[in-house]
Amino acid sequence: MNRLLYAGSFDPVTKGHLDIIERASALCGELIVAVMHNPEKLGFLDVPLRIQLIEKACRNLPNVKVIAHGGLLAFCAEEMEVDAVVRGLRPLGDFETEYQMAQVNKMLGGVETLFLTTSANCANISSSIVRQVAAFGGDISAMVPEGTDKEICEALARSNR
Ligand code: COA
Repeated sequence: MNRLLYAGSFDPVTKGHLDIIERASALCGELIVAVMHNPEKLGFLDVPLRIQLIEKACRNLPNVKVIAHGGLLAFCAEEMEVDAVVRGLRPLGDFETEYQMAQVNKMLGGVETLFLTTSANCANISSSIVRQVAAFGGDISAMVPEGTDKEICEALARSNR
């Protein structure tokens, strides 16, 4: 594959996301990571900070490029001229939503979606769990990419949500 797109809310980026980024970037020439808006979710961290945290997490992955996109995933895929979209699939509950999203994106822009199964050690990590643990003063360092925990906690404290 020449170029793949991995899109998400990344609010904030977790070790689960990084696991997919590392594995997907090993399969293609260039991996575009797009910070996008999920209309069903409130935003907590601002988008420039989400990008900064992903860039920090990917500092040793030279073929990863991080962007923000405000529209539909299908439009982003078209604009970035990717060969396919990549999504991580967790063992419980992801399939139905991901199946629907993949079908709609194919219908809108003709783009295929490839799934990587989430690694077992990441299956219980999610951005909302990270936010919840941080909100109560818990240690999130095992759940987020190395060197990002302090910044995430400070930003979440500032966001006051
Ligand atoms: N391991 C563990 N957890 C993972 C993971 C992995 N490998 N990959 C994702 N997750 C978790 C995330 O932490 C997140 O947790 P949360 O629900 O607690 O926030 C959850 O799985 C999914 O989040 P993420 O993958 O970051 O993105 P999303 O599902 O919130 O958003 C978009 C996906 C942005 C691509 C989608 O909303 C979108 O396409 N938006 C644009 C509008 C559009 O095109 N709509 C039509 C789509 S059909």
